[in-house]
Amino acid sequence: MFFYMYLTEYINGHVHLEESDMCESDGKLFLTEAFSVIMEEILHKGTDSKEKVCEWKDPDQLRALLDLDLREHGESHEQLLQRVQDVARYSVKTCHPRFFNQLFAGVDYHALTGRLLTETLNTSQYTYEVAPVFVLMEEEVLRKLRSLVGWSEGDGIFCPGGSMSNMYAMNIARYWAFPQVKTQGLWATPRMAIFTSQQSHYSMKKAAAFLGIGTDNIFIVQADESGSMIPEDLEAKIMQAKSKDAVPFFVNATAGTTVQGAFDPLNHIADISERNGMWMHIDAAWGGSVLFSKKHKHLVSGIERANSVTWNPHKMLLTGLQCSVILFRDTTNLLMHCHSANATYLFQQDKFYDTSLDTGDKSIQCGRKVDCLKLWLMWKAIGTHGLSERVDKAFALARNTGARSSSHRCATFCYVFRVERHVSWKRCATVCNGFEMRFLLFGGCVRNVGPISGSMYINHAVLKRHLAQWVLVK
Ligand SMILES: Cc1ncc(COP(=O)(O)O)c(C=O)c1O
Repeated sequence: MFFYMYLTEYINGHVHLEESDMCESDGKLFLTEAFSVIMEEILHKGTDSKEKVCEWKDPDQLRALLDLDLREHGESHEQLLQRVQDVARYSVKTCHPRFFNQLFAGVDYHALTGRLLTETLNTSQYTYEVAPVFVLMEEEVLRKLRSLVGWSEGDGIFCPGGSMSNMYAMNIARYWAFPQVKTQGLWATPRMAIFTSQQSHYSMKKAAAFLGIGTDNIFIVQADESGSMIPEDLEAKIMQAKSKDAVPFFVNATAGTTVQGAFDPLNHIADISERNGMWMHIDAAWGGSVLFSKKHKHLVSGIERANSVTWNPHKMLLTGLQCSVILFRDTTNLLMHCHSANATYLFQQDKFYDTSLDTGDKSIQCGRKVDCLKLWLMWKAIGTHGLSERVDKAFALARNTGARSSSHRCATFCYVFRVERHVSWKRCATVCNGFEMRFLLFGGCVRNVGPISGSMYINHAVLKRHLAQWVLVK
């Protein structure tokens, strides 16, 4: 009875969970004014090449400027707007034409609209009743991405980033190989062996550690000079694992390595995986987007033979963080079987709609952010054709920029410093840091630095039309 009275009051708007000292109209006014700051400071100035990528400050200076302390009482409207200004001013504008750091860049305004819509609607992707639009949309986007991989059926889910997508793949592969692990844990499994190249992303190590498989059970496969896995060494490492009584169950191939942008030989690796009864995963977080391009999709030839694929549209396609999927060829509902916990308060089977639309139990999360809308809206806006042009352009820019370009590399541009034997890595790092500082002080932002077999690599995702001229001029 009390509950119904409370509910009626609540519905009539008499009970507010929000704090009392800000009325709704003040909140809306603040948002409107803050939005003008966002438009001006980030989307106008932040995309103007005459402005800086970032007003760079040392940590101590920045702490003082930001006045980060959280106090007993709230601040005024004007002070808060100044906070918004400061955040925009001292942050790195990744939408800036001279932001070349990491594997993402730029701004796509349709995707950004999707991101803002997602934040404003603030729902969770788990059930149809709370996210009807997004459950159907996720299903469709995943279907379309799978069809680009070459699968007419299968499964998948949006994950909070490529590292998580890779971890999903490893977990599902382990469940596929040792289904008893879900209930009995690692007690019921033999020593497991994972194979991945020395150029693969570090999330493989994190996943092996997090899942209790252990980083010592990752057998690192050698890569050639271009960064591609050497299949003969994969075979040798499988033999080595077997000789140590470890069971090979998972091989990770990379399509677009993080530093060099190399593609592993997928068909060759698929042959080896099949011969050894292993799950083949492809980490195509960076390179997966070549599937849109008629010109470059040969780089991932054989991708359809994988059991799972990680793909981050938030990198080359510019959807904005975060937008990552893990796709499965499996049609036996492995994802649900492996992760489901059947929480009865959320996933009741006697709802008034088709409960197979409640896909939340496939996830290891409970609440899950909507990540499909930004990609869907951007795709609607420019079509598959526009996305393919975007990928081709990124490759063309990388090739035009020149250095170390190669026909089997992703849209990555590398400066390569050959290091003399007597020069220490510390000295190399100093040179690279100096290089980065120069860019920063000139208002640019670059680099991913990695030492690879006697060379120091500084790489960029070349997604900007300005890069070619700019690097030459400075
Ligand atoms: C090849 C590759 N895989 C996975 C990841 C991790 O993706 P995320 O940063 O979304 O976790 C990256 C990130 O750079 C990557 O380059």
